[in-house]
Amino acid sequence: MFRTLLALAAVLCFAAAFTGLGSAQATNAENGKSLYIKNCQLCHAAGGNGKGPGAIAFTPKPADFTNEKFWQTPNTDQQIVETVSKGKGQMQAFPDLSPDDIQSIILYMKQTFKPK
Ligand code: HEC
Repeated sequence: MFRTLLALAAVLCFAAAFTGLGSAQATNAENGKSLYIKNCQLCHAAGGNGKGPGAIAFTPKPADFTNEKFWQTPNTDQQIVETVSKGKGQMQAFPDLSPDDIQSIILYMKQTFKPK
């Protein structure tokens, strides 16, 4: 019994080391940044304020991620996931982005655009 527990603990430590939060997050945000530049920046702008060169064509305008109100809507993360995977209004869906890709983009958006 004790041996089993030890083995289990060892496996858990191993798993924790592997998914080590710090490094995983850094990689994710970095990945999120390049995905954002590639897929979102045209409309939502490099600075996230929704005034990218592609924004002119749209009414309503692309969301402004630097606006506190954007982050105050309930379940913001879930809304972003839905918008990106299914599209919303004038915004097309991005079926090629995996759930992990979208989480990376959200992480990047929070770190870079969300008002502190
Ligand atoms: C071609 C232009 C364009 C691109 C590219 C684009 N968006 Fe949008 N986005 C829009 C427009 C326009 C809206 C406003 C849609 C509406 O409210 O009808 C919007 C709205 C949003 C919203 C707010 C939805 C809500 O709940 O009101 C989010 C979140 C969002 N975009 C995220 C993204 C992310 C993340 C990417 C990149 C993966 C992206 N967008 C790429 C044009 C774009």
